[in-house]
Amino acid sequence: MRDAAPVSTPPRVLPPNDPRQYDDLAGEWWRPDGAFAMLHWLARARAAMVPPASRPGALLVDLGCGAGLLAPHLAGKGYRHVGVDLTRSALDQAAAHGVTVVNADATAVPLVDGCADVVSAGEVLEHVPQWRRVVAEACRLLRPGGLLVLDTLNDTVLARLVAVEISERLPTVPRGIHDPRLFVDARELVAECARHGVGLRLRGIRPELPGTLSWLFRRMRGRIVGRPVGTDGSREPRIVPTRSTAVLYQGCGRRSG
Ligand SMILES: C[S@@+](CC[C@H](N)C(=O)[O-])C[C@H]1O[C@@H](n2cnc3c(N)ncnc32)[C@H](O)[C@@H]1O
Repeated sequence: MRDAAPVSTPPRVLPPNDPRQYDDLAGEWWRPDGAFAMLHWLARARAAMVPPASRPGALLVDLGCGAGLLAPHLAGKGYRHVGVDLTRSALDQAAAHGVTVVNADATAVPLVDGCADVVSAGEVLEHVPQWRRVVAEACRLLRPGGLLVLDTLNDTVLARLVAVEISERLPTVPRGIHDPRLFVDARELVAECARHGVGLRLRGIRPELPGTLSWLFRRMRGRIVGRPVGTDGSREPRIVPTRSTAVLYQGCGRRSG
């Protein structure tokens, strides 16, 4: 009798933006050529907006921290890095990278008002149906004078085309990770932050083209190996400013006293 052929389980197909996707992709977070590679490039750019801590014991709260990709880029800046996320499998990896983790919803964070010198909300607002509540929480957590840094996708036709129709067909972004109905209108975000006492300044950003093409080419040839991307930025594509905020944008602003 012939052996039965091994049955391989197809990856489950989940609805767009279903948080269980992060469990299915748990092994990708820290892979240098993994599905989350672009998050590493963005984390580097986000961390560049964070100055060194101005006092001992300063706290940085990282909302939707995922697997803690921001951590290597904060090294030496003097912050205690607290990460808040819904996904346990991601938090376990964040903890292994030195992040103090809190398994909670970014719309209801179990931390006290004004505890944070910096709040980071990287690539999370566009995943939360009530993004305004995340903004309210971010601003509540900030001490007067504290800094909010974020990046997200704009609610435009161009963002849907670039971030979903194009990028999700490339190996830099997992397929189905976004629900474009949740993308965040830039003007509404600025207005919401202002309502909570944070004057947010925006700028458009994108990965630089030659570096991205070279990365894709090296990935195709299986040449992206070695240390995790987050610790070896020398050959990863840079995130550069653009004139337009129509697709991907960064925000930075301080809470008024
Ligand atoms: C695209 S990943 C970004 C992760 C990380 N900020 C980074 O840039 O590497 C989005 C993360 O947000 C988390 N997330 C989604 N909705 C959330 C919510 N309501 N509260 C907390 N975390 C949430 C997901 O679990 C996931 O880890």
